[in-house]
Amino acid sequence: MRTYLVTGGAGFIGSNYIHYMFRKYGNEIRIINVDLLTYAGNLENLKCLEGNPGYTFVKADICDKEAISRIFAENNIDRVVHFAAESHVDRSIREPEVFVRTNVLGTAVMLNCAKEAWELPEGGFKPGKKFLHVSTDEVYGSLPDDDSAFFYEDTPYDPHSPYSASKAGADMLVKSYMDTYRFPANITNCSNNYGPYQFPEKLIPLIINNCLQGRKLPVYGDGKNVRDWLYVEDHAKAIDMVQEQGELFQTYNIGGHNEKQNIEIIHIIIETLQEMLPDDDPRKAHVTTDLITYVEDRKGHDRRYAIAPDKIKAVGWQPETMFKEGIRKTIEWFFRNEEWMKNVTSGDYQKYYDDMYGK
Ligand code: NAD
Ligand code: TYD
Repeated sequence: MRTYLVTGGAGFIGSNYIHYMFRKYGNEIRIINVDLLTYAGNLENLKCLEGNPGYTFVKADICDKEAISRIFAENNIDRVVHFAAESHVDRSIREPEVFVRTNVLGTAVMLNCAKEAWELPEGGFKPGKKFLHVSTDEVYGSLPDDDSAFFYEDTPYDPHSPYSASKAGADMLVKSYMDTYRFPANITNCSNNYGPYQFPEKLIPLIINNCLQGRKLPVYGDGKNVRDWLYVEDHAKAIDMVQEQGELFQTYNIGGHNEKQNIEIIHIIIETLQEMLPDDDPRKAHVTTDLITYVEDRKGHDRRYAIAPDKIKAVGWQPETMFKEGIRKTIEWFFRNEEWMKNVTSGDYQKYYDDMYGK
């Protein structure tokens, strides 16, 4: 039986990945989820796995070398899938240090613990071991509005935010382990994800939540920045395919070819909510474009991200969920999980929101 060590599995993409993996492999795999449970980590995301003998949760900091090496010593880990990170650009602008600590130092600790556990006395590594580092297309910087330019795996790194700079640093560390030790790893650089369990500080869940609450919809700058949206389950599938069918030591870009301006996304969410809310739902009346409010632009705001996913297509992957379908599924999920939203938007989130956008 293959054993996975997943970091950051209580976050948005990590929890979707764990659900995907158990749906796909059932009791053929074991997953150990290591998460510090920061504001972004939520065990409610994995509630339905309680009692599943293949699933273990360990609360630990990826920067804590002792805790991480103990997990490797006590378990025969075959795969590492490393999601844990500070992931929100706006927070990185306000508080860069924590991004460097978690994203750079945390990745160094994960790499080193895996290396120590997997290396053979005669040199090389135990066969079959693999480390996948989950990164972002934001390391490549910003593309011009011209829609013929794309990010490729060999596009030079040019990060602009403390978040993307810290992810770029982490990617370089992984690369250095592959180059120096032939450490068995892959890096995936993915575009913007959306879907169930996404924390409402990111654009799509924030807009859905604000629409339903009748709150203003904050649009940074002119609203014409472009992101390449990928449904999170398609990302989970891509990660598994890279580990099982991809070539070791390679980087793969994962993107949906689904580029949209932020303002288009907001209009689509309003239209979709109008279609989905029943006529007698009192929220229907206030879900209108009147909520749209242009606010001060984000500092260093990258203009456009877009991935050419040619290399990962050659592994057999392609995005399956069209945006219209993905956004309906996401909104349906938020309708069914109002308690989840209430729980994550109380306390610390409310304070962040008030500081960021004003009351
Ligand atoms: P998230 O913020 O929702 O979740 C991050 C998780 O990491 C949380 O559960 C948190 O508790 C945990 N964590 C944070 N610091 C930790 C620490 N020191 N030790 C252990 N756990 C810690 O993030 P996400 O959106 O799910 O992103 C996951 C990964 O994917 C990140 O590496 C991110 O850079 C990358 N990524 C995200 C996107 C996106 O659109 N969300 C796109 C491309 C790449
Ligand atoms: P975000 O979801 O924070 O992802 P990222 O910055 O990692 O791409 O933001 C997506 C886009 O939406 C980005 O161009 C910033 C913009 N945005 C807003 O216009 N208003 C908001 O309230 C937020 C959170 C983001």
